[in-house]
Amino acid sequence: TASFSLNVNGGTHIVEADAKTPLLYILRNDLKLNGPKFGCGLGECGACAILIDGRAVRSCTIALGAVGRRSATTLEGLGSEEQLHPVQRAFIEEAAAQCGYCLNGMIIAVVALIGRNPEPHDDDIRDALRHHLCRCGTHVEILAAARKAVA
Ligand code: FES
Repeated sequence: TASFSLNVNGGTHIVEADAKTPLLYILRNDLKLNGPKFGCGLGECGACAILIDGRAVRSCTIALGAVGRRSATTLEGLGSEEQLHPVQRAFIEEAAAQCGYCLNGMIIAVVALIGRNPEPHDDDIRDALRHHLCRCGTHVEILAAARKAVA
């Protein structure tokens, strides 16, 4: 193992682990950030998405040793309980959760989309969410929430 300094949600965190450890494990197990979820562990479902320098990435596919000084933001870092991020608020207002397991990734994907394209069209929203799996089938509510967030 080795020591790594991570920049997560605006703070610096020192962790001791093997460089190959998936960043998702570090976030959940060491930093106790449970926003990102373990779904597939293979980069396929999107449940573990976080932002790195504003871009949505799948934290199960990034090795701890590959993060470097880049800035990571998890669902917890988007807003606070008193001041939710507008995308979080839109998902709550549209009751977009069934089981809620996918919503971390959905929200992160919409935040990243708005970051690179402040006025996305419907096709852009669908594209951003295309590879995020929801097994409950709440896609109608999720799309409504995403549309509300970008309106
Ligand atoms: Fe990372 Fe599924 S858990 S993409």
